[in-house]
Amino acid sequence: MSGSKPYDPATEGAEMSFRERMSYGDYLSLDRILDAQNPLSTAHDEMLFIIQHQTSELWIKLAVHEMRAAMKAIREGRVQNAFKMLTRVARIFEQLNSAWDVLRTMTPSEYTEFRDSLGQSSGFQSYQYRAIEFLAGNRNAAMLKPHAHRPDVMAKLEAILAEPSLYDEALLLLQRSGIPIGAADAERTDWAAPRAESQDVIEAWKTIYQAPEKYWALYELAEKLVDFEDYFRRWRFNHVTTVERIIGLKRGTGGTSGVSYLRKMLEVELFPELWKVRTEL
Ligand code: HEM
Repeated sequence: MSGSKPYDPATEGAEMSFRERMSYGDYLSLDRILDAQNPLSTAHDEMLFIIQHQTSELWIKLAVHEMRAAMKAIREGRVQNAFKMLTRVARIFEQLNSAWDVLRTMTPSEYTEFRDSLGQSSGFQSYQYRAIEFLAGNRNAAMLKPHAHRPDVMAKLEAILAEPSLYDEALLLLQRSGIPIGAADAERTDWAAPRAESQDVIEAWKTIYQAPEKYWALYELAEKLVDFEDYFRRWRFNHVTTVERIIGLKRGTGGTSGVSYLRKMLEVELFPELWKVRTEL
């Protein structure tokens, strides 16, 4: 209404004084988070680039948290709880997939303005991304190398490699549920080593997919894992498409061949037998 006094939320009880109590910003450590964007150039688009990476890392942090809890739930026989968390992980990646649309508004000309400021830094060195891959089951120890200078990060990643992956936990649950997964997986102890694909595991999933009513919880688990990998693949695909759109076939700041390296990564399968079994149904 023109001419009336501006509305004051204090009149309906909104707390307006935070001298001695915790405020929204205190609780969320907002000063630290909002002070952590430090562009190294004067290019306008560097802020977008930094915030896109930082927000992705925050969502990836939540995905790691949920995956760890889901793995614990499967191990402890609380598979229904794991479903909730795995659904959340898939939703996180769905959300990260939409986020690429914001970054795609940056053109090659705009990126070139600040690319040199990045030096050799690259998402290739994202230890949280490696944690996701290692937790899920893609155990490639070569990916530890960029973290050799950070003993704290190395210790965290090595601890993940020393334990069964999400996929290992799922397979062990199948075995405990009376569906044999073959000796190679049932008796595995070297969790850090990449596991070999197995016909026994294809057969195990086949048993479940052929009798969903009988094995409903395991059937649902299988579909939650496929959902997760589906969204994760889309993230990789969106990344490589965005990268090609912005840098073409140039090498990455991290030193790889860039787009052709990322295309190779599209072929990595986290839960291979869950994809193979589909051909046999
Ligand atoms: C202008 C935008 C971007 C460009 C041009 C770009 C480029 C690249 C390139 C070329 C690589 C291969 C490694 C290298 O040689 O550097 C890479 C890897 C990677 N990037 Fe990006 N990227 C961009 C945005 C992002 C964003 C927003 C994230 C989110 C966290 C991200 C996460 C990653 C990860 C995790 C890898 C490692 C992938 C793997 O090893 O499989 N990138 N990026």
